[in-house]
Amino acid sequence: MCGIVAVTGYRKALPLLVEGLEKLEYRGYDSAGIAVIDSDNKKLVCHKAEGKLKNLKHKLDKKIISGSLGIGHTRWATHGKPVLRNAHPHCDWTKQVAVVQNGIIENYFELKTKLESEGIVFTSETDTEVIPHLIQKELNNLSNLNLENSGSTLLIAVRNVISDLEGAYALAVIWSGSPDSLVVARKQAPLIIGLGEGEFVCASDTPAITNITNTILPMEDDEMALLTPLGIEIYNSENERQYRNPISLRLSEQIVDKKHFKHYMLKEIYDQPQIAKNWIKQFLRNDESSLTSINYPFDIQFLKNIDQIQILACGTSRHAALVGSYLLEQYAGIPTNVFYASEFRYSPPPLSPNILTIGVTQSGETADTLAALNMEIKRRQSSGKESYKPNLIAITNRLDSSISRLVPNIIDISAGIEIGVAATKTFFGQLLSFYGLAITFAQIRKSKTHEEIDKMISNLIKIPPILEDLIISHNKISEELAHNFSNMKDVIFLGRGINYPIALEGALKLKEISYIHAAGYPAGEMKHGPIALLEKKVPVISIATPGNVFEKVISNAQEAKARDSYLVGIAPECEGTEIFDYLIPLPLIDEWISPLLTVVPMQLLSYHIAAHRGLDVDQPRNLAKSVTVE
Ligand code: AGP
Repeated sequence: MCGIVAVTGYRKALPLLVEGLEKLEYRGYDSAGIAVIDSDNKKLVCHKAEGKLKNLKHKLDKKIISGSLGIGHTRWATHGKPVLRNAHPHCDWTKQVAVVQNGIIENYFELKTKLESEGIVFTSETDTEVIPHLIQKELNNLSNLNLENSGSTLLIAVRNVISDLEGAYALAVIWSGSPDSLVVARKQAPLIIGLGEGEFVCASDTPAITNITNTILPMEDDEMALLTPLGIEIYNSENERQYRNPISLRLSEQIVDKKHFKHYMLKEIYDQPQIAKNWIKQFLRNDESSLTSINYPFDIQFLKNIDQIQILACGTSRHAALVGSYLLEQYAGIPTNVFYASEFRYSPPPLSPNILTIGVTQSGETADTLAALNMEIKRRQSSGKESYKPNLIAITNRLDSSISRLVPNIIDISAGIEIGVAATKTFFGQLLSFYGLAITFAQIRKSKTHEEIDKMISNLIKIPPILEDLIISHNKISEELAHNFSNMKDVIFLGRGINYPIALEGALKLKEISYIHAAGYPAGEMKHGPIALLEKKVPVISIATPGNVFEKVISNAQEAKARDSYLVGIAPECEGTEIFDYLIPLPLIDEWISPLLTVVPMQLLSYHIAAHRGLDVDQPRNLAKSVTVE
């Protein structure tokens, strides 16, 4: 989604901005631009280009732009097509103020209509363009006051303007009248300030600032800040100055290295065994005397009163939540519901006491998930009933994100920054967190015996080496199999029980990066409609792991075979699996932990199909890494 980077200091801003934007490319975007105040003539210089950043770099090639104050942006279209005129930065009619913005200004139309009635001509269809015009108008008003400090003047102008803005946004503003002042503001969209030596940087995501500093101050909602080479001033919505200590980025948040892999996605699939090792080390404990075998960074006493769980998430995180709900209900015996965060917000179930709400989001910034959690917190607080506590946990990969500030109890999956837009290793990390929660609830509720829990734990401990071998062998197999799929138009994924969400995830991965239509179904549901689609050109990928529903899945696969579909099985080599035209073999493992393995061929197959089709695997069209608009 849109990315912001802005800098003020002593070095030339342009290369720093371009470097920052390169680090934000993974978020997904369709145009890019920069604006710098030229130190020679104190004029605003603005350059933009449609498409990838390389187009902007090409435009900037050989341009000498001095000036150490600038803003940059990668845009993911919401209002107006992804064309040059809509790319950020946007300037006011006098070309003195430039603004980059993430999020959506909901009342822009009303503001625009008013500005147009005053004779201001708009050059884009964006919601953003109202902001620089409004700031310029404020600057004109403030000029009568003859304020001494131009930075403060800009700060006041921006403050006056944002008090009229509705929606969720993060923005950065520069003005040629104050050639070293950067003003930034945040409302429900991420923005962090990086503290360098003699320079300050602001960005919507940490990778964009690591070329300058590893020391950050995440901004809170409704805060704004003035950054100059001499320091920063942060203010809350009451215009009170805010003071707090900076924090250091963890090493995993600083390193985004592709190593020898062709794409980040492949590297991230290969990262998974290490994530399992880290999780085992961090979360499994040997302390017999403790309440549970899982090591949480927060007090879990409140979980003892929980008798129901609701999980809010989107996309891949929701699929992890579905595996989680299976574990929580079927293993730990606690009723659990999973909601699309975007639906929950507008149609939540009736309030009930003793419910635990879990938000799942790798980015920690997904607007739908944050809004749903916010709504849930507020409605519980305002219910007036003491028993309706907002018992909350969030599972995220970004400790520095908005969800970490919203939710008190965080399970950090510590997977390291994921660059591929298609989530792989963060899904895996989310699954592990749910295994931890299921063990915890099974212990608290005594729904499983010591022996059963020990068995689950020892099976989880065995995962890393099995996974390492599996990734190597499945990588080869998937590369080979990808050739058969590259001309397909529709693919069906089937799974049952704990592997049904993996079928959904397989279909989502394939759609996202290969643009092949795919759908996942519970295998037993196929005969109730989707079977009509089946024919030779519609392959069916079935997950069949020995256990509760193995024979049923094999029978469902037979039904597909009878309709001439090409059948791929993700299953062990055992009786029954000879039915598959192509077998991606699995080791014989306990069904409870099977999703940790069955997801791997899904990821690898999608990856190789997309790579074989020559597509942009890491930055698929129209998608964004963190979806910060509703
Ligand atoms: C995953 O491959 C997708 N890009 C997408 O569905 C994603 O899972 C969804 O947008 C939720 O993101 P989050 O985990 O950051 O909240």
